[in-house]
Amino acid sequence: MRPPLVVGNWKMNPASIAGAVSLARAVRGLGLPIEVGVAPPSIALAAVAEQLRGSPITVYAQDVHWEEAGAYTGGLAAPMLAGIAAGSIVGHSEVRRDQGDDDERVGRKLARALAAGLRVVLCVGESEAEHVAGETHAVVERQLRAALGVARPPRGAGIVVAYEPVWAIGTGRPASGGHASAAAATVRRALAAAGLDGEATRVLYGGSVSAGSVAEFAAAEGIDGALVGGASLKPEEFGAIVRAFAR
Ligand code: PGA
Repeated sequence: MRPPLVVGNWKMNPASIAGAVSLARAVRGLGLPIEVGVAPPSIALAAVAEQLRGSPITVYAQDVHWEEAGAYTGGLAAPMLAGIAAGSIVGHSEVRRDQGDDDERVGRKLARALAAGLRVVLCVGESEAEHVAGETHAVVERQLRAALGVARPPRGAGIVVAYEPVWAIGTGRPASGGHASAAAATVRRALAAAGLDGEATRVLYGGSVSAGSVAEFAAAEGIDGALVGGASLKPEEFGAIVRAFAR
């Protein structure tokens, strides 16, 4: 009912457009058996999309602006992605951290992306301090309620939720499968509370997913795939992660 999906978030890598194109070529060459997306840096989006044309791999932006157009220096507007990217990541914790995005702004970005016909990988997850305080579920519920309350997406909107505990991102310290499953259940309850079909919505886990840690998440109840950072820059390892979700 929920086909698996793995998305590689390349973040601010590789160092050149040529490097991004060659990474895309390598991922394409893996001939992966399930739905796969890659999210290159914005400067490489068009070149990567060109490299992946005719392949089943989907291209995502890493972020979009919350306004449609205008005097927003450095911004990437959702409508600009038409014909290049099929979707965008929205609400990644690094963007929340570095650019001051709060739940309200994440909701506005979500609305803009959906209005432009983009699919969205909507990221939520608690910080280390919130985790230690036992607030995981309250935080995930609040982030989704706030963002969905602003965006008011229709039932059936093209949303995938990535549960990414901030303390697990880039630390080599992934959450457990059980923790991810429990968070996924909270995600689905929050989606349902906002009028969406939680059971039909894919929930990915993100945070130090590697070839070594993926089995835990591939086996986790309610987890339909992964949002992969560091390991998505290594094609062979990325391929191993993707194949773990083929079932
Ligand atoms: P990581 O990043 O796999 O390097 O931990 C995941 C993410 O930030 O999406």
